[in-house]
Parts: sequence; structure tokens; C-alpha cells
Amino acid sequence: MKNILITGGAGFIGSHVVRLFINKYPDYKIVNLDKLTYAGNLANLKDVENRPNYVFVKADICDYDKMLEVFEQYDIDGVIHLAAESHVDRSIKDPFTFAKTNVMGTLSLLQAAKVTWDGHWDNKRFYHISTDEVYGALELTKPEGNPPYGDKFFTEDTKYQPHSPYSAAKASSDHFVRAFHDTYGLPTVVTNCSNNYGPYQFPEKLIPLFINNIRHDKPLPVYGKGENVRDWLFVEDHARAIDIIFHKGKIAETYNIGGFNEWKNIDLVKVIIKTVDKILGNPEGYSEKLITYVTDRAGHDLRYAIDSTKLKNELGWEPSLQFEEGIEKTVRWYLDNQEWMDNITSGEYEKYYESMYGNR
Ligand code: NAD
Ligand code: TYD
Repeated sequence: MKNILITGGAGFIGSHVVRLFINKYPDYKIVNLDKLTYAGNLANLKDVENRPNYVFVKADICDYDKMLEVFEQYDIDGVIHLAAESHVDRSIKDPFTFAKTNVMGTLSLLQAAKVTWDGHWDNKRFYHISTDEVYGALELTKPEGNPPYGDKFFTEDTKYQPHSPYSAAKASSDHFVRAFHDTYGLPTVVTNCSNNYGPYQFPEKLIPLFINNIRHDKPLPVYGKGENVRDWLFVEDHARAIDIIFHKGKIAETYNIGGFNEWKNIDLVKVIIKTVDKILGNPEGYSEKLITYVTDRAGHDLRYAIDSTKLKNELGWEPSLQFEEGIEKTVRWYLDNQEWMDNITSGEYEKYYESMYGNR
């Protein structure tokens, strides 16, 4: 495969995937297609934007005619589809945008691939990036002590039971991808990954939001009692898994991606505080006073935990970073890249933040 369409490449995970592919595959043409919503930021790709094997196209995946044009113009033979509305809290406020982009946008891309490739599936691939959130929530059967915090994990066979408008829309898009394989033979692959963290994540998500708030001595809004559990993976390890699965994954298969790295939110927040305080030279525990318990998120999933054994056994992927190392690297990146953060937080962001958390 030579001409790869990556959608959502100006976002958090997408920018890491674009960078990896540009650097690793100089013979490929990487077409990054992104609408540049509030979450899309070309500054995420500053270091690679002038490479000869890279093109940026500003477009909306819901625009079917435009998708057809892009497939034709760039002679696309592989798709890595990441473009989506991705924040659960926003989906609770505005579910329609999520249905439109995540469901109709994915459908428009699928149809463009099907029509352009027209049954010539050899060396073609449509890779859809999904989330563990489609599986719903696991119980916290072992809340005390060390992780895992429950007996069950999400496997590739876990039934879909999404609870938020975000995960419902992602689930629906996953079904369309599989339906396009089963009905038309489109060569698809789907992966469901756990929570990602690392550089270039929009600061509405827990980790960058809290790092930035600690830096500015602002409250850290912990939902409910902070007991919810998430399974965290360093974003570059996700990008590496995407590379392996794009090239070697079996058609029509699903792979779960995760690092067996469960954290209760409140414990994670304390690790972030400790790391930021250490780097800023504050006394240990100094920023714990910022922890503010706020009203819980509606329908807040209790626990996510991914079983990625299949990916390890079949394709040999394993996470490369220990969590402590990944968190330290991440905190340092945000503190060292204050300009990147300030450029985001100086505009519309403030209005969004106030509408979510009040004028704190
Ligand atoms: P993000 O919100 O940071 O980036 C999404 C990107 O998609 C942005 O660049 C945005 O401009 C673009 N986009 C949005 N709507 C578009 C449209 N209609 N047309 C074209 N582009 C559009 O999201 P992310 O965290 O990087 O997530 C990327 C993908 O990975 C999503 O599909 C998400 O569901 C999935 N995922 C994310 C996580 C996570 O922890 N962040 C975990 C598992 C899976
Ligand atoms: P988030 O980063 O939004 O990812 P997701 O909802 O997709 O898992 O949130 C991670 C966890 O942190 C989730 O349990 C919700 C919680 N959370 C807070 O407690 N406070 C916050 O301000 C945010 C954004 C999230």
C-alpha cells in the first residue's frame, strides 16, 4: 500500500499516527484529512508538515462527494480512520454532533471506499479506530488493594453495551464498518483501545486538564468520589499498535489494545499532582488542596479494563512504557510546551471551560 488516508490526523492520537507513518514510511504518501474542529490543531504536526510524503486536506468526513474526490485524486489504497467527536462530556451536551460525525461521517467514508475500490480489494484496507467504551462498564468487584479492580476484562467477544452518546455513536460506526465487510466484502479491520495519554491531547480530557490546572493553581474537578477506574495507555504505544495492525492484522478481525494499567481516578490525580509538584519544585503534596469533588458525570462508566492478549499472541504487540515513565514524560511535555497550551486555552476554550465547570 502506498497512498494512505489518515482521518483526524490533526487531533491527539491522529497526530502521533501521522508522525509515525511519515517518519517510518518515506515511500508512502500520507494524506491527513481533518475538518479542524476545536480539537484539530495543525500545531500538533509542525515538525513534519513540510515533508515531501505528506499532504493535508481540510475537509469534513460527512461530505461524501468530497470523500469520493479525495479517494480519486490521491488514489487511496489504505484508510486509517480516526476522525471523530471524542469527548464524553460534550456528547452529553450535544449528542447530535456525535451521531453526525461518528456515524454518518464513517458511513460516508465507507461508501467512498467501496465505490472507489469497486470490488478490487487486493492490497486495500479500511482500518477503523474505536474505543473500549463501546463495551459499556465493568463492575468494581475488588475495589481495595492493587489492580485489577475486578474479575472481568473487555475481550473482543464482550457484547456491546454503550452508555454515553459518545460510545453509542462509536458503537454504531463499528457496526457499519463490520456490515460493510459482511455485505460488500470491504477489507476492514477494527480496534478498540483503552484511554490514551501523552503529548498533544486537548486539555478537556483529564490528564492535560489537570496538569494545566495545577500549573495555574486552579481547582481539579474530580467527578463523584473519584472511584471510577480507567485503563491508561501511552499514545505512542497505541500508534505503534495501529502500525502493526494496519500492516499485519487479519481482515474482518477485531483487536483490543490496552496495557493492563488500571487506575482509580483519584489515585491517578494524586500521581499527576506528585509529578507536577516535583518538577515545579513545590513541596510534596502541595497541590492536593486543589482537589475538588464535583457532581458526577451522568451515566459515568465505573470501570474499563482491556484484555489485549489476542494482540500480543497474534501480532506480538506489547506496551513499551511503564506508566510512571509515561506520566513523567507527559507532565514534562505539557510543562515544557506552555505555548502550545496557551494557544488553545486563550480562545474559545475559556467559554467552554466555564460552561462545563463554572467560573472557578
Ligand atoms: P481528538 O478529539 O483529539 O481528535 C479528533 C480529530 O478529528 C480532530 O483533529 C478533529 O478536527 C477531527 N474531526 C472531528 N470531526 C471531524 C469531521 N467531521 N471530519 C473530519 N475531521 C473531523 O480525538 P482523539 O482522542 O485523538 O481520538 C481519535 C480517535 O481515537 C477517535 O475515533 C476516538 O474515538 C478514538 N479513541 C480515542 C481514545 C482516547 O483515549 N483519546 C481511546 C480509544 C479510541
Ligand atoms: P476523560 O479524560 O474525559 O476520558 P473518558 O471519559 O473517555 O474515560 O475522563 C477520564 C476519567 O476522569 C473519567 O472517569 C471521567 C474523569 N474526569 C474527572 O473526574 N474530572 C474531569 O474534569 C474530567 C475531564 C474527567
